[in-house]
Amino acid sequence: MKKVVLAYSGGLDTSCIIPWLKDRGYEIIAVIGDVGQGDDFDKVKAKAIKSGAAKAYCLNLQQELIEEYAIPALKAGALYEGKYNLACALSRPLIAYHQVQIARKEKAEGLVHGCTGKGNDQVRFEVTYRLMEPKMEVIAPVRIWEFKSRDEEIDYAKSKGVPVSATKKSPYSIDTNVYGRAIESGLLEDPMVEPPQDVFTMTVNPEKAPNKPGYVEIDFIKGVPVAVDGEKLKPLPLVLKLNEIAGRHGVGRVDMIENRLVGIKSRELYENPAGTVLHLGIREIESLVLDRDSLRFKEILSQKYAELTYNGLWWTPLKAQMDAFFNEYHKNTSGTVRIKLYKGHAMVVGRRSPYSRYSEKMATYGKGDKFDQSLAEGFIKLWTVPFQRHQ
Ligand code: ARG
Repeated sequence: MKKVVLAYSGGLDTSCIIPWLKDRGYEIIAVIGDVGQGDDFDKVKAKAIKSGAAKAYCLNLQQELIEEYAIPALKAGALYEGKYNLACALSRPLIAYHQVQIARKEKAEGLVHGCTGKGNDQVRFEVTYRLMEPKMEVIAPVRIWEFKSRDEEIDYAKSKGVPVSATKKSPYSIDTNVYGRAIESGLLEDPMVEPPQDVFTMTVNPEKAPNKPGYVEIDFIKGVPVAVDGEKLKPLPLVLKLNEIAGRHGVGRVDMIENRLVGIKSRELYENPAGTVLHLGIREIESLVLDRDSLRFKEILSQKYAELTYNGLWWTPLKAQMDAFFNEYHKNTSGTVRIKLYKGHAMVVGRRSPYSRYSEKMATYGKGDKFDQSLAEGFIKLWTVPFQRHQ
């Protein structure tokens, strides 16, 4: 029997994959990545075994997701199409990476995932597999199997002794980790339909949020968030804390039409309370400490970084080169930002940094002005020269 390693979630698709592959002569090792989806992982492991897996691993990847993936993407200012903090996209190269490590350890010959052929996730998994283990077989059963509907899958699962959960399946497709939540399909496929409140779990309905604004202060050192309201925290607990604080005020909801790599436009909802205030905060310190050219140039790279991440190209040279750039870029991104949270809105209301380039003496319209206004006249004359006709 050929041994293969499956990225297993415990859902219906990845559970059906196990007997489906077994019937085709494979031995299956299931790998579960705990990225904060909040499942009962003992149950998920047991389900993999009951479905016919030879072995099941569960890896806690939450800290790594935040420290090695979310923070670099934050430093890069990466928001896909200006809105999506890439929570789901960041988790795929991480899970695939660990899946490959286990495949090596187990001397497996193949790698399997349960993604459909219409999404981005298949690309993110497979690009990682192919870059790390180009010779291993890659199997994506959901793209090729015979089942035409969920009901057919359920019938198949029952016939194979795969436990089928009695609880009614959510009408949406949901992907959750500590850095955010993505919700799609069902009635959301009509882009004109307003999302019902019950799809959201990380953020309260802004209309029901406290009537009094909340404030949060975030400290950054070299572009890395290190404290919330003066309390020093490691990145993972810091993100969890910000999810709670911002989520309580309904901050972090996104409703967007996005362009998938495969060409389809899709409607997706996101909740990313921590990501929202972190992106807002880091940008604010940057605007205080960096010069105009650096800030402008970075915007181009932010967009590129988001595209690479979204499109499954995390483990590529350009992405690594950009990380090096951003480490240099953030040499002085240290300081504190104060953010006001009110009914779904987050706004910066204060910022300070020991590396601030902001000078009150240069900016003031009041007493103590150090800006020599007489220089402006000559400057403007020269500024106009290229656009004038000269005899
Ligand atoms: N559209 C997001 C992405 O490509 C999320 C994909 C998974 N979404 C979901 N609701 N299951 O990164």
